[in-house]
Amino acid sequence: MQTTELTKATEVVDFLPLNGTDHIEFYCGNAKQSAYYYQHAWGYELIAYAGPETGVREKASYVLKQGKVILVLSTAMNSDNDISKHVLEHGDGVKYLSLWVDDATKSFEETVKRGAEAVLEPTKFEDEHGYVVVSAIKTYGETVHKFVERSNYSGPFLPGFKKVENAMKVKPVGLKHIDHCVGNVELGKMNDWVKFYEDVMGFKLLLTFDDEDISTEYSALMSKVVSNGNGWVKFPINEPAEGKKKSQIEEYLDFYGTAGVQHIALETPNILETVQDLRNRGIEFLHVPSNYYEDVLDRVGEIEENIDDLRKLNILIDRDQDGYLLQIFTKPVEDRPTLFFEIIQRKGAKSFGKGNFKALFESIEREQELRGNL
Ligand code: FE2
Repeated sequence: MQTTELTKATEVVDFLPLNGTDHIEFYCGNAKQSAYYYQHAWGYELIAYAGPETGVREKASYVLKQGKVILVLSTAMNSDNDISKHVLEHGDGVKYLSLWVDDATKSFEETVKRGAEAVLEPTKFEDEHGYVVVSAIKTYGETVHKFVERSNYSGPFLPGFKKVENAMKVKPVGLKHIDHCVGNVELGKMNDWVKFYEDVMGFKLLLTFDDEDISTEYSALMSKVVSNGNGWVKFPINEPAEGKKKSQIEEYLDFYGTAGVQHIALETPNILETVQDLRNRGIEFLHVPSNYYEDVLDRVGEIEENIDDLRKLNILIDRDQDGYLLQIFTKPVEDRPTLFFEIIQRKGAKSFGKGNFKALFESIEREQELRGNL
């Protein structure tokens, strides 16, 4: 009796409570021009800046916001700099998946105690708007999780950043928050990283996809989804699986040079409007063969949207026991075939679109072939 109660009590204690994603920081070759792209094409608002004009000598960073999504684009001011090295090796990519916490010191201690590799000891940063405490640990590849404690801070972003006045007028496309962030890891490493998230960060395994679920004639991958205690932070982890030709995950690893963030899924309450807006502004999405739409409703049942509208925009549909979802994937947003975005609208469904994997991966393979990487 006592043992059972003890187990129950241990199970409910979340040693790493997360309020959600704080921000995602990219290391870029030219953050000024990338910031223009995210403002103009994606409708993010430039809210803060740090760089030479604000007393930061070694880098320039642009903070972009839409709904609750915050992206930071950073570039190095010289070649003897971690950002320049990162860009040289990986191209532009995600460096920090930063998590919003109430206690960055405890988050650091609890995870390091369980085996996390420390990157930044809990450190207080302050300016006239108050203070934040930030700590950081390593995850896959060169990606880092920062823990950001900001309850005593009222500035535009973090100490050292200045509010941007007279930024470009932007038209948001309806992005509300980050739904999930996917990591690609090396062959045979998926389970190690799932174990890292379970043991070190207290996440739970939510879903598993094996190569039977996710394979086409040529390429295959395996995927497991981990989620934190309250379910607000979800990290699917992919690894390549044996196929006849090169898996899309291998292509990513070849070009990124290590494990890293593959895609970021952004949630909208109206995917038809969001995708139409993005297409009008030149964002390119993966093409789905029109025969996908011939029998999709047999698979997913009744939906509120007009199927012709979805077909026109190439939006995919899937259903699970809780409801359905609508989703679409951009082509890689950089020259290296690495990072891309997903736009997702959830209508009850809590899953990730397993029913679309085949159509999607055939489409990715066509793109790989065009790049000469299949
Ligand atoms: Fe996704």
